[in-house]
Amino acid sequence: MIVLGIESSCDETAAALVDDGRRLRANLVLSQFDEHRRFGGVVPEIAARSHLTHLDGLIAEALETAGLGLGDLDGVAATCGPGLIGGLMVGAVTGKAIAAVQGLPFIAVNHLEGHALTPRLTDDLPFPYLLLLVSGGHCQLLAVEGVGRYRRLGGTVDDAIGEAFDKTAKLLDLGYPGGPAVEAAAREGDAKRFRLPRPMVGRPGCDFSFSGLKTALRQIAETLDYPLSRRDKADLAAAFQAAVGDVLADRCRHGLARFQELTGAKGPLVVAGGVAANQALRQRLESLAADQGVRLVVPPPKLCTDNAAMIAWAGLERLRLGARDPLDTPARPRWPLDELTPPSPDAPSQEPVSP
Ligand code: KG4
Ligand code: ZN
Repeated sequence: MIVLGIESSCDETAAALVDDGRRLRANLVLSQFDEHRRFGGVVPEIAARSHLTHLDGLIAEALETAGLGLGDLDGVAATCGPGLIGGLMVGAVTGKAIAAVQGLPFIAVNHLEGHALTPRLTDDLPFPYLLLLVSGGHCQLLAVEGVGRYRRLGGTVDDAIGEAFDKTAKLLDLGYPGGPAVEAAAREGDAKRFRLPRPMVGRPGCDFSFSGLKTALRQIAETLDYPLSRRDKADLAAAFQAAVGDVLADRCRHGLARFQELTGAKGPLVVAGGVAANQALRQRLESLAADQGVRLVVPPPKLCTDNAAMIAWAGLERLRLGARDPLDTPARPRWPLDELTPPSPDAPSQEPVSP
C-alpha cells in the first residue's frame, strides 16, 4: 500500500510517499523561512500563496524521486487542520483533486495525529504510549491508545512551547526560525549565570506554563547593557533552555504516573513535534526516562519538524483500518486531537468520486 501525503498547515510545503512497509519512498520539504524571515514570523497570506505556487511541482518531484506514477497510489492524505486556513485549503483541495481524478480514497489528516503516530513509522511502536507533543502551536501530554484514540492529560495554560522558543529568539535578536537559533546560542552559554523560574514544577497534574518564563527572561535582559553581547545572549538562551528542560521533565514525570494509572503501562514516553528536534531537551528527557525506568522514543529531527511523511503515514494507518473521508471534508483551523475518533469501516463515508 502506498499513500501520498501532503502537508501545508504552516510554513512548510511538503509532499511524501510512504508505504505500509514503513519505507519513505520520497520525503520532500520546502521551507518558506526566507519568505517570512524579514517579518520575524509566519505571514499567513504569504504562506498560502507560496503553498499554491510550489505544491504541484513538489508532488510531481516526489513521484519522480520514488519512480512512481499517480496510478501506483492507494490513497491520498492531506492535512486538513489544525493550522493556517489558507495553506490548509491549498493542500486539502490539491489532495482531493488527485483523489477525485484517480478514483482514490481521500484521508483528511489531523496534523497533530501526524506527529503523534510518527514513532510508529520510525520505530514500529505498539500502543499505548505517553506522548509529549511539543510544537510551534502546542504543548500537551496525551495517552495514545490507538489510531484516533487520544486522551489529553494536560497542556499549556498560556503559550505553546515552540512559541516560547520563537519569542525568546526574537527578544534576544537571534534570528528566525527561533527554536534552532536558541538551541545554537545556548550551546555556547552558561545556564547557571541567570536563574529563571520553573513554572508549574512541583504542582500536581500535567499542565504547563511558559509565559512567566518569557517575562522573567525579558526582565533580566532589561537589566543588561543594550545591545546584548553575544555572551549575554548565549547565557540567557542557555538559562531559558535549562528551565524549559526542567519543566518538561517534571511534567512528564507526572504524566508517566497518570498514564500508568489509566493504562497500566509504564511508558514508553514519546516526544514529537518540532521542539523535539532540540538535542538538549532530548538529553534532559533521556535522563528522566532512565530515572523512571521507561523507554524514551524520539523520532529523528527531520521527522519531528513538519513534514509530509507523517501525514502519509497517519493517512495510511487510517486507510488500512477502513477510513475514507468525504471530499467535502472541510479544512479546520482548530481541531483538537482528543476530538478525533478511531476509524471505523462502518462509519458513514463517501465513496471516492470516479473520474
Ligand atoms: O511541529 P513544527 O515543525 O510546526 C508546528 O506544527 O508548529 O514545530 C515548529 C516549532 C517552532 O516553534 C520552532 O521554533 C520549534 O518547533 N523548533 C525548535 C527546534 N526546531 C524547531 N525548538 C527548539 N529547538 C529546536 N531545535
Ligand atoms: Zn507540526
